[in-house]
Amino acid sequence: MVIAVYPGSFDPATYGHLDVIRRASVSFDRIIVGVLHNSAKSPLFSVEERVNILEKATKDIPNVVVQPFEGLSVNFARENHAQVIVRGLRAVTDFEYELQMAQTNRVLAPDVDTVFMTTSLQYAYLSSTIMKEVASFGGDISKFAPPEIIEAVRNKMKG
Ligand code: PNS
Repeated sequence: MVIAVYPGSFDPATYGHLDVIRRASVSFDRIIVGVLHNSAKSPLFSVEERVNILEKATKDIPNVVVQPFEGLSVNFARENHAQVIVRGLRAVTDFEYELQMAQTNRVLAPDVDTVFMTTSLQYAYLSSTIMKEVASFGGDISKFAPPEIIEAVRNKMKG
């Protein structure tokens, strides 16, 4: 049984994240999506809201669970008996940071491997930050995430 964790901020999840989760769910027996609770950052959505959003968006994929986590991704992986950390790679601009993180994680936990999934082309430009930026100026974000997430972003920005 190969268990993979997919750690991230997911503030909030986009079609790009959901695409990685769906594809990873085919290659691994179980995917545990880890939503980082980082007290140093001030996210748009609380960690509970981000978990909730992801649970709803992945409810039709039976081998996916969503959990909040704090601290190191490798500890989250080990606590969940995961052998693999999954990360999405959109473009070369992601590569340097992702490589550094994967190498650091390898030093910290040689028993946990990082597997990169290349983002599907139609989502290669997309990020939660871009989605929030467009939404903050009233732009159309309907191509960036499923309707429930769009609604959550709109409500959050209204209130
Ligand atoms: O969605 P993001 O913000 O690109 O995800 C980044 C994340 C959460 C994977 C990364 O910041 C992370 O793993 N944070 C936890 C602390 C840690 O393990 N850092 C890696 C050692 S360099």
